[in-house]
Amino acid sequence: MTEAARAPVDVFAKARNHDRREQLEAAREQDLLPYFRVLTSEAGPVVEMEGRETIMLGSNNYLGLTGDERVKQAARDALEAYGTGLTGSRLLNGTTPLHLELERELAEWMGTEQAIVFTTGHQANVGCIGTILGPSDTVICDSADHASILDGCKLSGARLRPFRHNRMAKLERMLERAADDGGGVLVIVDGVFSMEGDLCDLPAVVELSERHGARLMVDEAHAVGVLGARGAGASELFGLEDRVDLRMGTFSKSLASCGGFIAGPAEVIDYLRIASRPFIFTASAVPAAVGAALAALRIIRAEGPELMGRLLDNARYLRRGLHDLGLAVVEPGSLPDGSEATTPVVPVVVGEDWQAVLLWKALFDAGVYTNVAIHPAVPPGGALLRTSLMATHERSHLDRALEIIGRTVEAFPELPRQG
Ligand SMILES: Cc1ncc(COP(=O)(O)O)c(C=O)c1O
Repeated sequence: MTEAARAPVDVFAKARNHDRREQLEAAREQDLLPYFRVLTSEAGPVVEMEGRETIMLGSNNYLGLTGDERVKQAARDALEAYGTGLTGSRLLNGTTPLHLELERELAEWMGTEQAIVFTTGHQANVGCIGTILGPSDTVICDSADHASILDGCKLSGARLRPFRHNRMAKLERMLERAADDGGGVLVIVDGVFSMEGDLCDLPAVVELSERHGARLMVDEAHAVGVLGARGAGASELFGLEDRVDLRMGTFSKSLASCGGFIAGPAEVIDYLRIASRPFIFTASAVPAAVGAALAALRIIRAEGPELMGRLLDNARYLRRGLHDLGLAVVEPGSLPDGSEATTPVVPVVVGEDWQAVLLWKALFDAGVYTNVAIHPAVPPGGALLRTSLMATHERSHLDRALEIIGRTVEAFPELPRQG
């Protein structure tokens, strides 16, 4: 063996030579980086970012409850009662009465036997999928499923069979192939896809999963507190709650906090409590986060229809406005009666990554914050400017944002336009 062949490989080499490095440095040098911008106020419809007033069209605070006095008070009460942190796992010294109340009320809300609360939504997905699946199983995922779902699949070692986003013929083909894999089969979809903001074709997914004897899990992160009469998500909206085996939700969006949950049959939830490593081997969420999520849940259960109505009206209004500007707004999909769905995520197709970054910066400088989704969050060449709404946006905020967007896009003649 030569000297060179024996030279040790530095595991830090990828940090120095990764394929995004040049782009990142160029963006940083020109102050174009759309990430890690500093928020210096509450995450409301209008925020202060880097010292400037900015219309927030990039938050997941869908119902605006992070600023609700009752939610804040519940966080303070939990802090006073249980201190700043629990410093241990749910399994050992990290379960308070707040966790138990929250789990009981989540299960009631979802209409399931039980629910289990994790420290983040990411951990809920990883900790559920990585535990109930093993290397002899097959997992079938939509290509636009959230990264935490893929992380759970990887952890499980199950055979991954992805299908093209929302293409039901492709899902069917994967289910047929999975039949020969020999293990159990789990289909996992997002109820509302996080970047594209479109609705899953859940009736078709349910029908195909049942026909092929597969279990079904729906990630309702962007749908709980948003869709369905009770706000129980896409499964409720489609009237399919009792035909979805497992539902995941997060507290980091409409529930105005941080944390996540899995709702489903008692036997599975009980198993997760003693077998899920991302549940057991991490500290419980801080009490204030649990208290805030519980208060937000109670508000949603009592006042949800009004808040969700305002949120979805705002989403329709912005969608129409962006459409009228000629922009290529991603289609949200349709409801069983054929009417167009509405979700709080309203993305505009930009196409090329660099153009998306330039447009993002021009809007940021003009006083509108949006989120940029570039590869790998979306397929190559499919960069999006992702806008999202809150129930607390007023029409004046949206009109002002539309006026700024209309003015700004004039400098971007290459932008894809409505077909
Ligand atoms: C669809 C989806 N699932 C799961 C998660 C993870 O949730 P959390 O932010 O609570 O970790 C997110 C959040 O980004 C999401 O968008």
